[in-house]
Amino acid sequence: MYGSENNREDSERTAFRRAEKNYKLYYDTNASKNKKKKKPKPVDLTEVLDFRSILECHDRNGELPPFVNVIHDKFSSPVFSLQNRPGFYFIPGALSIEKQCSLIRESLIDFPQPPNRTNHNAIYGPIHNLFDEAKEGKVLVEEYSPDGSPKLGPDCDYQDGKRWKFVTEKEELLRKGKSVPASALLRKLRWSTLGLQFNWSRRNYDVSLPHNKIPEALCDLAKELAKPAMPAGVEFQPEGAIVNYFGLGDTLGGHLDDMEADWSKPIVSLSLGCKAIFLLGGKTREDPPLAMFLRSGDVVLMAGEARECFHGVPRIFTDEKNAEIDHLQAQLSHEDDLCFLKYIQTSRININIRQVF
Ligand code: OGA
Ligand code: MN
Repeated sequence: MYGSENNREDSERTAFRRAEKNYKLYYDTNASKNKKKKKPKPVDLTEVLDFRSILECHDRNGELPPFVNVIHDKFSSPVFSLQNRPGFYFIPGALSIEKQCSLIRESLIDFPQPPNRTNHNAIYGPIHNLFDEAKEGKVLVEEYSPDGSPKLGPDCDYQDGKRWKFVTEKEELLRKGKSVPASALLRKLRWSTLGLQFNWSRRNYDVSLPHNKIPEALCDLAKELAKPAMPAGVEFQPEGAIVNYFGLGDTLGGHLDDMEADWSKPIVSLSLGCKAIFLLGGKTREDPPLAMFLRSGDVVLMAGEARECFHGVPRIFTDEKNAEIDHLQAQLSHEDDLCFLKYIQTSRININIRQVF
């Protein structure tokens, strides 16, 4: 392919990029020409740190790898830290199965509701009830205002004389113009923001954007989980959260979260659904990152020096063996929950909660 020489050099320039490339999903192009049968390239996972097996081993015989420390608290799960990454904490299986399921439901039904913004806002404006509309097979269509009025209300309605709305498939057949199935939009939902809204193009929090407070239950959960990374007697104040949605092949490139005022405060990061690989780098992209598994129910805290460390998610596993979501399959087996199960079987959701000021 043209330009591949340069691209290859570029994509392998730093240790972080090389690790991302190493774990990213690639397909064996030689294995089969038939697209339906394309197989993921095998990847060597022997170097990936597995805090669940570290926990099991520690519970069995009290042993820990030399670079891992553990804090035990009578009331909660053990919290692991790493000797060479101060401010980083890993709490394997911190969320109960019930909590995981309620957070998955909320992440799909409630969190993407306006005034919370999603990646779809820029193109379609605010979208209500995306998950339910997708379940009902609805289609989003572009509609012109009857009198050509440019804008009717502050919330949604017509922008430049047009707006998007959901119709049934049958209704869609009778129309001309642009349309997109709700199910396709659900698959392409990549993020939503809770509490203070993050402006991705300006890379800052835009306090002037309308917003709701972070739901109380999530706020209380984050305050509790943040404790190991907080000074005694100081309470974490959740003010904003980003919900990331990952499908097969989706990645989160190496980055720093540097838009919050006080880096001594942790980012509280919850994993739901399919297992992923998380890369924790150092202060530059040249530092070789540590790879670790993130499973549904795991919680990561990044505070202090760890906030200066590049990190990202190069891979999620959606195959039955590696996704490790059996417990969710069982818990979401009720008829009303099958829609959530279907989504989460091939997806991962990450909720990361921040104190902004
Ligand atoms: C982020 C982030 C990590 C994850 O959204 O800033 O680092 O586990 N997410 O998805
Ligand atoms: Mn981050």
